[in-house]
Amino acid sequence: MADGDTELEARLVEQEEFEPSEEFVAQANVSDPAVYDEFEENWPECWERAAEMLDWDEAYDEVLDDSNPPFYEWFTGGKLNVSYNCVDRHVENGDKNRVAIKWEGEHGETRTYTYQDLYREVNEFAAALRDLGVEEDDVVTLYMPMIPELPIAMLACARIGAPHSVVFGGFSADALATRMNAADSQFLVTCDGYYRRGDPLDHLDKANEGLDGVDHGVDATVVVDRLGDDGFGHDLKGNQHDWGDLLDEHAGERIDPVERDAEDMLFLMYTSGTTGQPKGVKHTTGGYLAYAAWTSQAVLDIEKEDTYWCSADIGWITGHSYIVYGPMALGTTTVMYEGTPDFPNRDRLWDIIEKYAVDIFYTAPTAIRAFMKWGSRFPEQHDLSSLRLLGTVGEPINPRAWKWYYKHIGNEECPVVDTWWQTETGGMMITTLPGVKKMKPGSAGPPLPGIDAQIVDTSGEQVDAGRAGYLTVNKPWPGMLRTLYNNDERFIQEYWQEYSDTDSDDPDDWVYFPEDGAKIDGDDYITILGRVDDVINVSGHRLGTMEIESAIVGVEGVAEAAVVGGNHEVKGEAVYAYVITEEGQDEDEAMRQRIIEGVEDAIGPIARPEMVVFTPELPKTRSGKIMRRLLEEIANGEELGDTTTLRNPEVVESIQRQVESE
Ligand code: WTA
Repeated sequence: MADGDTELEARLVEQEEFEPSEEFVAQANVSDPAVYDEFEENWPECWERAAEMLDWDEAYDEVLDDSNPPFYEWFTGGKLNVSYNCVDRHVENGDKNRVAIKWEGEHGETRTYTYQDLYREVNEFAAALRDLGVEEDDVVTLYMPMIPELPIAMLACARIGAPHSVVFGGFSADALATRMNAADSQFLVTCDGYYRRGDPLDHLDKANEGLDGVDHGVDATVVVDRLGDDGFGHDLKGNQHDWGDLLDEHAGERIDPVERDAEDMLFLMYTSGTTGQPKGVKHTTGGYLAYAAWTSQAVLDIEKEDTYWCSADIGWITGHSYIVYGPMALGTTTVMYEGTPDFPNRDRLWDIIEKYAVDIFYTAPTAIRAFMKWGSRFPEQHDLSSLRLLGTVGEPINPRAWKWYYKHIGNEECPVVDTWWQTETGGMMITTLPGVKKMKPGSAGPPLPGIDAQIVDTSGEQVDAGRAGYLTVNKPWPGMLRTLYNNDERFIQEYWQEYSDTDSDDPDDWVYFPEDGAKIDGDDYITILGRVDDVINVSGHRLGTMEIESAIVGVEGVAEAAVVGGNHEVKGEAVYAYVITEEGQDEDEAMRQRIIEGVEDAIGPIARPEMVVFTPELPKTRSGKIMRRLLEEIANGEELGDTTTLRNPEVVESIQRQVESE
């Protein structure tokens, strides 16, 4: 390698290619390849195409104001309301009886909200919030599981111009308090509890504990009664109100949607960064909604007649953009499921797809790997022929899992879109347009029209096809974060400093750095190699841990793997592999050998794992991300850092014991 120090070594085996079927292309929302050139030649005015998908109360003056980078403004001067765009206009346009939300609880109970129902409840709850003292620009925290009241509360906030900050229901009391404190949020909407693997969980207890940690006054808390008779008998405190009572009080009330400036904040979403303090990513009204709507239409191919299901949790950005805002801006039917995919059986998701005749399904690679581990007999029990398109998001998907998804869920008929994006980007950035582009398993695809993504070396020079480097985004886009809440300085530090001339006010000198490693091929297809903090350096060679994992997961009998760098006297760093095997697979020396050979075959002896540790689980955060830091600490025999944010802290000890006994 010419510049071994600054490049990752990307050697994923030559990818196979798949074309979308003629039938899919014929009906696709976007099927003309000219869209790429149109956007490029007409940038930034091309983004009017997204803005035109919305109803504006006042037309915008300018598509993009880039006079003060990196504080870009989109659709400046325009005014609109997100709740109007996601609810009212569908009621007015003859779609009031179309189902907006199809919800299923873990025990199989269902609730159906038409757009008319949604309109009624959003209005009533907006009236209730006003009555509780919520004013425009007050941040309302929503700490709820997957129940319909969550999107209803989001839309009610949007209606009165109060930004929401959704805190994932699985987060701890401390996490709730930290986020309420950071946002100076004086209102909370939560619930008594919810079901997990059949049992009721006490959520209000956790919420109350969180409230105790809030260091300013909390004016009001609203509590949804989810559990009914299964509840935990909490008495509501003085400033706590029952959701149902509030709706009764405000029955039939209508609240005019507040005209919001395109650049007014729609929501905050806290996400983890390199430091312990979560970052409050700020998204705005016009650009965000336009971008969510456009990508829902162009990439997910959503039409309003569809039944669409994203199995993410609304507590994450994927749920915000692709359960709530994008799909509802398009007026489609969005499915919500409360529980886990293996309750009561491992076919639950396929059962839901069959029952509701789901057209489009969007999920995460980690889920796909679990499905693969459980085996194809579960999807085979169901008729999945309603599906037209499949999607993935959140992490790289290795070709083997991609192909399993394509074959066993999509019956080799549905295109798969592997969508790269981040909390910060608001919507999808790199993926195939399914009606235009061929698919290459393992590679997300080219940048979407209008997105200028490049792969560069440490000095910012573009690398050649086939080489790896760092992903950058060299032009702004409507869905981008505007800043980190109350912290412009950290915003610049985290995302721009690396590749920008921060003294310049020329937008061409400003480059967004997502902190992902990636490589690009001759067709402009980008393969994401993972966060650059997951890169290890073995004997002076940089290797993407994701790449090694992909090789290991490609070995027959392996379900999931995590690779980290451990200190090594000679090599600098060595590869430590933590491996989950498929059910029934022997975890013996022969298997270990096959894994090592698999890595050597795919990447080379340089990436040969120093140690292969079999484990039934990997330590994961509550959002499902593998905690590599802990695995590194175990590999290095170091004292373990904080494990309290783990979903499964007990697994750490058992892995540690194994490593020590080797
Ligand atoms: C990773 C989730 C590979 C990436 C929407 C990014 C992906 C981080 C993909 C953002 C993908 C997301 N292929 N990697 N298709 N999608 N990532 O903020 O490292 O939770 O930087 O947003 O997930 O995670 P976040």
